[in-house]
Amino acid sequence: MREGGVEAGERIRMAVQKSGRMAEDSIGLLKNCGLHVDRSKDQLFCRIKELPIDLLLVRDDDIPGFVADGICDIGIVGENVFAETQSGGGAGGAIILERLGFSRCRLSIAVPENGGIDGVAALNGKAVATSYPHLLQAFLKTNNVAARILMMTGSVEVAPRLKIADGICDIVASGATLTANGLRELTVVLPSEALLIRAAQALSPDKEKTVQRLLARMRGALLAADSKYIMLNAPRAAVERITALLPGCDAPTIMDLNRHDMVAIHAVCKETVFWETMEKLQEAGASAILVLPIEKMTA
Ligand code: PRP
Ligand code: ZN
Repeated sequence: MREGGVEAGERIRMAVQKSGRMAEDSIGLLKNCGLHVDRSKDQLFCRIKELPIDLLLVRDDDIPGFVADGICDIGIVGENVFAETQSGGGAGGAIILERLGFSRCRLSIAVPENGGIDGVAALNGKAVATSYPHLLQAFLKTNNVAARILMMTGSVEVAPRLKIADGICDIVASGATLTANGLRELTVVLPSEALLIRAAQALSPDKEKTVQRLLARMRGALLAADSKYIMLNAPRAAVERITALLPGCDAPTIMDLNRHDMVAIHAVCKETVFWETMEKLQEAGASAILVLPIEKMTA
């Protein structure tokens, strides 16, 4: 039985976080790749119609192991989770296929404000609560610090207040959780972003083809999300100055207008166009500036 030109048995399995910080961003990326994910019917399994892909919606801690063991062929997972699993000696059969750049956060050590711990060395002989024991252990070893690690699976931020630990090692994104708990960041252990991971072992040619198609779509979707199409009018004399201000744009199109002292400039900017950029463009003489979103583009 054929389906979209691929044997039905050759669908790839992709692990994605079911709920939590990264779930929405991951599903959003798949949508931007033209893949419809209908989570309403079955919470754990979702068959994608547009490409031969089946989604497994799981806990993020399970994703590296599932991919390493071949239960899934690929997965989207936070670098924090992937690194912790690898640091613990697991997930050896999984490798990073692409850094996806979203869901950025960091694994950091934090301590009570005004608690007297003013540096990493001051953690000697103290207790640190974390859900990332392997990464913390490795960090402490590198820094020659002998601290006790208290493993907690959640609500790590309350440990200092409960006096069961002197500090914590946990994910920081906006920093709001630390502030709300009277903690301050001491040092970053690991910067983290979303990763596309895959099984290290070779896949069948059909599966490999699907992985490469998905990867190309993801690259295009991520690029399009950051890119804008910008159109403006400029005095001919200011073209050089104005094109130099366009962020991440290598080949603008310059067109004559009905008046010889002005031209129209069209360009794809592959970086965020900030209000500051708009203001600078105006100062340089640009007028009728339009910034348009790009729906699709190839990387
Ligand atoms: C992480 C972390 C903090 C919070 C930090 O938890 O454990 O609680 O995010 O984010 P902030 O700096 O923006 O406040 P997460 O939401 O990932 O869930 P979990 O603790 O249940 O794993
Ligand atoms: Zn948390």
